[in-house]
Amino acid sequence: MASEHETIFTMEATPVKFGTGASADAGWELARLGVKRVMLVTDPRVAALGQPERIARLIEAEGIEVVFYDRARVEPTIDSMQDAADFALENDVDGFVSVGGGSSMDTAKVANLISTHPAPVMEYVNPPIGEGKKPPSTLKPHLAIPTTSGTGSEATTVAVLDLPDSKVKSGISHRYLRPTQAIVDPDLTRSLPAEVTSSTGLDVVCHAAESFLSKPFGARPRPESPDDRPPYQGSNPIADVWSAKALEFGGRYLRRAVADGEDVEARGFMMLAATMAGVGFGSAGVHIPHSCAYPIASVKHSYQPPGYPDDHPFVPHGHSVIVTAPAAFRFTYDALPERHHQVAEWLASEPIGDPSPDSLPDVLRQLMKDVQAPSGVAALGYAEDDIPALVDGAMKQQRLLAIAPKEVREDDLRHIITASMANW
Ligand SMILES: [Fe+2]
Repeated sequence: MASEHETIFTMEATPVKFGTGASADAGWELARLGVKRVMLVTDPRVAALGQPERIARLIEAEGIEVVFYDRARVEPTIDSMQDAADFALENDVDGFVSVGGGSSMDTAKVANLISTHPAPVMEYVNPPIGEGKKPPSTLKPHLAIPTTSGTGSEATTVAVLDLPDSKVKSGISHRYLRPTQAIVDPDLTRSLPAEVTSSTGLDVVCHAAESFLSKPFGARPRPESPDDRPPYQGSNPIADVWSAKALEFGGRYLRRAVADGEDVEARGFMMLAATMAGVGFGSAGVHIPHSCAYPIASVKHSYQPPGYPDDHPFVPHGHSVIVTAPAAFRFTYDALPERHHQVAEWLASEPIGDPSPDSLPDVLRQLMKDVQAPSGVAALGYAEDDIPALVDGAMKQQRLLAIAPKEVREDDLRHIITASMANW
């Protein structure tokens, strides 16, 4: 029967090998994938911890050559992505292994894309900022090994990048960018400072909450062709399963993981939650808090985050996302009241009697306080007169705003950002 509405959703996931000590299998996995000369992508901070070097030795033990690249930038820019892509081309590699956070994994995704199908990075960037060119065929094998528990980038089709000249963040998204295999090893997160665990964990919570509270896939118009089906499809029954579990784990384990870095059980569950939320939002998608996070991270570069390397000021991704979440979910409440209530209960790890539009914002504010998150947009270096620029930047993320559960107008974003200047 013909319908103007979408009737189909798709569910794809990266094969994941999970568990303490799993990173020892890196060489075995790359050999299985037929890789002979691999580019190892990491960032200087992670490299200094020695894990990438250890993993490189394991890979070499399988007879695979390793070309070491430790210049992935925390919060990659179009230029840093291009640098990694040029390096991959010069070194003629036939596979990739990323060891680090979302920045390293995303840099490897783009280096893989550009070295397989050479073109200026901008051609692949999502419209309207870039041209949205689609890769013509699959890419080289990419083994992703996360060392933080946040982005879930190992499970997604997206690479996020900063365009400093236009003060905007955007991304490249296509199913071919999804890593071929992931190894998620909780042992690798032990050395994370509490601030990093807080930011990445709150990012996990937002991925799952935004996905669970996105516009149902069947509310979108039916695409002209399968090629036009967006990577972010809106909530659907399978994505919901992953998002729900990630919220439950986030509510139960994030506080513990921040309070005690050696709490291996809590760290393990947060890592699992990050990957599970990645599977959920890789299918459903994220919307208002992530739309606002982009300009919060790129309009001003004045915030020097505690616990992170001090070579350049920036707003850690998870903290840039969480600050507008209470107001965003206050705004979306009336579109899906029962679902907001469910999210609040999962995060609170207990039933909430007498649900109201403020239940979820209240639970989020308490969680933020408990894991020492910044109190709002103002704490990240912004004043009232920056609000128009932030609203402008968030409005540019139409690809994300399109899957919010209700229409988001400029005035709504102004209200959300204003209310988020200080959450307490
Ligand atoms: Fe995120």
